[in-house]
Amino acid sequence: MTAPVDFGAALKSAQMTISAYAETRLRGGDDLHAAMRYAIAGGKMLRGFLVLESARLHGVSQDAALNAALAIECVHAYSLVHDDLPCMDDDDLRRGQPTVHRKWNEAMAVLAGDSLQGFAFELLSEPVVGPNALPLILSLAKAAGKDGMVSGQMLDIAAESAAQPLDLDQITRLQQRKTGCLIEWSATAGAIFAGQDAEPLQRYARALGLAFQIADDILDVEGDIEKVGKALRKDANAGKATFVSLLGLDAAKLRADELVQEASAALHPYGDDAETLKQAARFVIARDS
Ligand code: IPE
Ligand code: IPE
Ligand code: MG
Ligand code: MG
Ligand code: MG
Repeated sequence: MTAPVDFGAALKSAQMTISAYAETRLRGGDDLHAAMRYAIAGGKMLRGFLVLESARLHGVSQDAALNAALAIECVHAYSLVHDDLPCMDDDDLRRGQPTVHRKWNEAMAVLAGDSLQGFAFELLSEPVVGPNALPLILSLAKAAGKDGMVSGQMLDIAAESAAQPLDLDQITRLQQRKTGCLIEWSATAGAIFAGQDAEPLQRYARALGLAFQIADDILDVEGDIEKVGKALRKDANAGKATFVSLLGLDAAKLRADELVQEASAALHPYGDDAETLKQAARFVIARDS
C-alpha cells in the first residue's frame, strides 16, 4: 500500500522552496530587483509546483527542477504584471497587494516584466539544468510567445472590442493559449527534462489548464475579494464572453468537474505515483483564490 499524499503540504513546501530561491537569486540590487521579487511573491505557485512534481515523477534532480520552477513563476509573474497595466486590464490589486505599477510606476512595471522574462531564460540556461536545457528553453519560448500566452492575451484584449461575443470554441482556443500553454509547459517539464514521453502529462495538462481557467472565470463571478486578492466582476463588467457567460455557472462547474476526471485519467501510466497530481487537479477547481 502507498502512503497517503498530502497535496496541501506538497504545495506549501514547493511555495517555500521556490520563494526562498527567488529571494536568494534576486537578493539586494536596485529597485528593479525589488520589483521583480515583489512580482514573484504571494502567488499559489501552482505552475512551479507542477514543474517540481512532474520532475519528481520522472526521477529528475530537484536542484535542476528548481531552476525551471522559478523560471515558470517568473514568466507567469511577468504576464500578470503586464496584464494588470492600465493599457491591459488596468488593475490596482494583485494577490491582495498593490499591483507593481501602483506600487512603483508604469515604466517600472514594464521593465520588471521584461526582466522577469529574461531572467527565466537565464535560469533555464544554467549548467544545473543539465543536458535537456535546450528543449526546455525552446518549449518555454513557444509556450510564452507569439503562438502561446502572449497570443492568448492579444485575443483576449481583441475580444473586448469585437462586434460579437466569442463562441465556446473561440473561447476555448483563446484560453488554451492565454492560460493553458504555461500550465502545459509546467506539467510536461519533468518529462522534457528526462527526455521521456510527455504525452500523458500533456493530456493531463490540457484538461487541467481549461479547468483552471473555468475556475478563474467562476471566481470572477462568485469569489470573495478578501480571499482572491484581485478585483472581481471584471469579466461581466467588460461584457466579456467567458466559460461562465456562455455556459452558465452550473454547466461551467460540471464542465470543470469533467475536465478534472479527464486530467486524472490521463495519469494512468504513472499509477499511484501520480496521486499528488490528481489532487492538484481537484484543488484547481475547488480553490477559493
Ligand atoms: C491567475 O493565475 C491568472 C490566470 C492565468 C487566470 P493564478 O491564479 O495562478 O495566480 P497566482 O499566481 O496564484 O496569483
Ligand atoms: C491573465 O488572465 C492571464 C495572463 C496573465 C496570461 P486574466 O486577466 O483573466 O487574469 P486575472 O483574472 O487578472 O488574474
Ligand atoms: Mg487579462
Ligand atoms: Mg487580468
Ligand atoms: Mg481572470
